[in-house]
Amino acid sequence: MFNRFSLPDLGVGIGLRTVHFGEILAKKPPIDWFEVLSENFLDTGGRPLYVLDQVAERYPVALHGVSMSIGSTDPIDFAYLGKLKELARRTRAHWISDHLCWTGVMGRNTHDLLPMPYTEEALRHTAGRVRQVQDFLERPLALENPSSYVEFAASSISEWEFLARLAEDADCALLLDVNNVYVSSFNHGFDPAVYIDAIPADRVVQFHVAGHTNKGTHIIDTHSDHAIPEVWELYRRAWARTGPTATLYEWDEDIPELSVVHAEALLARGHREPQRATGTHGA
Ligand SMILES: [Fe+2]
Repeated sequence: MFNRFSLPDLGVGIGLRTVHFGEILAKKPPIDWFEVLSENFLDTGGRPLYVLDQVAERYPVALHGVSMSIGSTDPIDFAYLGKLKELARRTRAHWISDHLCWTGVMGRNTHDLLPMPYTEEALRHTAGRVRQVQDFLERPLALENPSSYVEFAASSISEWEFLARLAEDADCALLLDVNNVYVSSFNHGFDPAVYIDAIPADRVVQFHVAGHTNKGTHIIDTHSDHAIPEVWELYRRAWARTGPTATLYEWDEDIPELSVVHAEALLARGHREPQRATGTHGA
């Protein structure tokens, strides 16, 4: 175990997607683990839940959510958290993650992962909410760094410092998305290596790697392609600090065959093993 929460390195996984349900059930491919989009299974039954039960029976899973809205000023939605906790119990999920963002305010949901103002006030506010959520869920929450296209003029702290201090103050885990770091560094003009090096490595329990769409003036986080070499380089840099940590390849648009997504995910092993072989981590 390399993280302070003693959460396991599940290996290299992919997201559980509807288009792959049939093949997964029929062929039981040797995939290390699946990330489950929580919202797809919270208010459903029938085939989706049947498939999820089958998958959770055979593979390790972790839950990944998009609607906790941890940075919002709206009240925490404990009805949602209750359903999330039950889904985690049902699937024996190794952890629950969501994003450092807000998705709406005053009861309105934009269904977008909106960037937060990085201020001392927002830091105190969010840390308090993360602690409440963790108390309710009775497990650490892993927060993911978002990709963003705009920033608040009011921000007084860098995103990486905000994330690092939030993790310490709330005693939560982190899901480090190295593609998001790259996307935001391009869009906002910061050095992604500085970001990676500032993250408290012992709190990282999972990585995301993904592809994006470069529009020249800006990058859109589409999850629709292979990852570029610069993103894998950030993964190597981060992994050298964290040691063996569960890794997930995200492919959510123009999803190809399962074998293609899995092959892309498996590239992560090539970026992990050299570190291990040199004994960097004593493993
Ligand atoms: Fe991600």
